[in-house]
Amino acid sequence: MLELIDVTKTYRTKSRAITALDGLSLRVPERAIFGIAGRSGAGKSTLIRVVNALERPDVGQVLLDGEDLLRLPFKQLRNRRRKIGMIFQHFNLLHSQTVRENIEFPLRIAGTAKVQRRKRVDELVELVGLGDRVKNYPSQLSGGQKQRVGIARALAANPSVLLSDEATSALDSETTDQILELLLSINKELGLTIVLITHELELLRRSATHVAVLENGRLVEHGEVLDLIADVHSRLGRDLLPGFTDAPVAPGRVKVLITAVGSGRHEAMLADIALETGSRFDVVSGGVYEVSTRAVGRFELALDDTASLRRTLGALAERKSISVEFARE
Ligand SMILES: Nc1ncnc2c1ncn2[C@@H]1O[C@H](COP(=O)(O)OP(=O)(O)OP(=O)(O)O)[C@@H](O)[C@H]1O
Ligand SMILES: [Mg+2]
Repeated sequence: MLELIDVTKTYRTKSRAITALDGLSLRVPERAIFGIAGRSGAGKSTLIRVVNALERPDVGQVLLDGEDLLRLPFKQLRNRRRKIGMIFQHFNLLHSQTVRENIEFPLRIAGTAKVQRRKRVDELVELVGLGDRVKNYPSQLSGGQKQRVGIARALAANPSVLLSDEATSALDSETTDQILELLLSINKELGLTIVLITHELELLRRSATHVAVLENGRLVEHGEVLDLIADVHSRLGRDLLPGFTDAPVAPGRVKVLITAVGSGRHEAMLADIALETGSRFDVVSGGVYEVSTRAVGRFELALDDTASLRRTLGALAERKSISVEFARE
């Protein structure tokens, strides 16, 4: 498990000091796909560089499986860092080296024997679907293929954590989907923990199990994606799926946002609402969305605004795994 405790990192330039991480604490559960969102300059990359020990914080602890990376002597730290793989937005491949040489690079540095290196690269290229490209150079590959090489290289030393900093930002949406699929299968089959930085909330919604939002080096919200989506007070939960639209309602009617997590049968859920509230409703907007690889229904409904409707919907929300939010007048 990966954990940060009270981490502060300040960059000092000639003219000023910038606090990129400000007393940040964060716990990334084993096997999570942990998304990190936040505006440009929020501190996301700094966070990743601190975890990867590329950057040393002013204060704080970075615990990997209970061991503080910041207190390890250099040699041990170098060893532990092998447990952390990293992929980059611009792939960071060695251009004069073949796919095979790029992937085996970290193994060569680690002093792995040639025979084992060969065997490991053979496994990895199969895993990422590049079995027929080992002799190619990066310039002969598409962006998606380059990132597959990046992923294979990151996995070479069998890490337990994979850090991804905007790894799909340079790719088109179809290629992004394929890379995301690959990361999901790696997470599932190898049990790898993945820390995923992206400014694209849709990617996080679909793939992340957990998500944290950084603002000025601080955590403003974090939690399990499915919980956040069901929480009407969560700003992130609101941003992850479409919310209320501007569509007007007839006098005497009220708009309600229903979010149903976990139940695959959304028509049945809507039928229940009709039955239990006894109100004729219109679906104003919404649909079924992929969230954390599951289906979540979110619908904006318009119903007759009565006290009994509010009571019934409140009771329904408590009994079933749905959340209900009334539009503000
Ligand atoms: N080496 C550095 N020297 C000085 N300031 C830095 C350095 N690296 C980052 N910063 C500053 O620290 C803050 C956080 O930067 P960081 O790169 O972590 O943001 P980010 O969330 O990754 O942004 P983006 O989404 O644009 O990649 C920014 O204000 C940035 O200007
Ligand atoms: Mg960044």
